[in-house]
Amino acid sequence: MEVVICADAQQQGRLAGEVVARLVGSRPDAVLGLATGSSPRPVYADLLARVRAGALDLGGVSTFSLDEYVGLPEGHPAGYRTEIREQLTDPAGIPVERVHTPPGDAEDLPAAAADYERRMERAGGVDVQLLGLGTDGHIAFNEPGSSLASRTRVKTLMRRTREDNARFFGGDVDAVPTHCLTQGLGTILQARHVVLLATGEHKARAAAELVEGAVSARWPATVLQWHPHVSVLLDEAAASRL
Ligand code: GLP
Repeated sequence: MEVVICADAQQQGRLAGEVVARLVGSRPDAVLGLATGSSPRPVYADLLARVRAGALDLGGVSTFSLDEYVGLPEGHPAGYRTEIREQLTDPAGIPVERVHTPPGDAEDLPAAAADYERRMERAGGVDVQLLGLGTDGHIAFNEPGSSLASRTRVKTLMRRTREDNARFFGGDVDAVPTHCLTQGLGTILQARHVVLLATGEHKARAAAELVEGAVSARWPATVLQWHPHVSVLLDEAAASRL
């Protein structure tokens, strides 16, 4: 695991953007694992700036998102599919049929979860996986207590996570769905390179556990210690408890 302490979120965005740009430069049909939330936004801004400057062509990539809320209708502004299309894939010209998100509105969620895993496998697996970090140490929506070998499945969201994410639902925690469809920790471990970004004091405990704690389902991100190629990009505040 390499840990890089960055001056700010912009520098994180540039570094992670460089990783993706290099990969796509050598493999135009690379498979990108995308995360939502605020942490990856500077990465998407960096990638779009490269695309607009003519320095990067993302038109050949496929993307797989980590997670989605259960029960939000297609096109809901806080839905992760909407977010990823707005933040990156539509403006970057990635054809929508190659933009995959777990279908949180499916009638048969276990079948949809198994199908999502198969789609990832057929695409050849994820080359680089971007990740944020929950304040309770979750990655994707793998809340504390998640099996370290878990695959894509339905999870119940912790109250804390729903409170953290209420800002995307007009500040109303009751409007935040109670369940999600999320890649498992075992799924995430199969990505060939994982790039995790975290900023701010509120992430410091989770970041310290991730880098220095014992591997445990109590802090799901610690499972990344088992992965052979992880880059952790922190700002000073998020690194303050290392
Ligand atoms: C949500 C997402 C995670 C994300 C986390 C942190 O719970 N499901 O994938 O990493 O929030 O979000 P933020 O980057 O906004 O702090």
